[in-house]
Amino acid sequence: MIKLTVNGAPREVDVPDDVPLLWVLREELGLTGTKYGCGIALCGACTVHLDGKPLRSCVTRVGEVAGKEITTIEGIAATPMRAVQEAWIAHGTPQCGYCQGGQIMSAIALLRAKPKPTDADIDSAMSANLCRCATYVRIRSAIHAAAETLAGSAAGSATVPPTATPSAPDAGTKPRGEAP
Ligand code: FES
Ligand code: FES
Repeated sequence: MIKLTVNGAPREVDVPDDVPLLWVLREELGLTGTKYGCGIALCGACTVHLDGKPLRSCVTRVGEVAGKEITTIEGIAATPMRAVQEAWIAHGTPQCGYCQGGQIMSAIALLRAKPKPTDADIDSAMSANLCRCATYVRIRSAIHAAAETLAGSAAGSATVPPTATPSAPDAGTKPRGEAP
């Protein structure tokens, strides 16, 4: 039996030590917000936090994280970092949504490390989270909005207008192949 703390709650799973954490979360604990994309640590869809730091759960054996604190996307809404999810919604960031749980987990890690990230900080920190729908500009905008909210700015996310919609693509900046 392997003991973990997941989203603040103690959990026990009866699986071999070498089962990927991703499958334990999804199949044993029913936390399906963490997605399988590549299985080889290249896409970021499976990103969770281990003791607050981002972790690729697809290549992490559950035995490696026994006794540790795991946070998944399902655990974010109960924390102040729900501001990031709210910014994602306000900016209409997801398209298909498949990658977005991992994107949000990486964005939260960035905002903890750099509460006021620059565009370059965002592009660097988020570069390993891939989005087949190419929502990168909206991800950037949502992170800036969340940073303002988290900083307690009077402006906050409500006054930072979304900069991209499917019918009005962002002009000027197209990091990492933003769709036209
Ligand atoms: S599924 Fe883990 S990085 Fe792609
Ligand atoms: S929103 Fe579809 S893969 Fe990112």
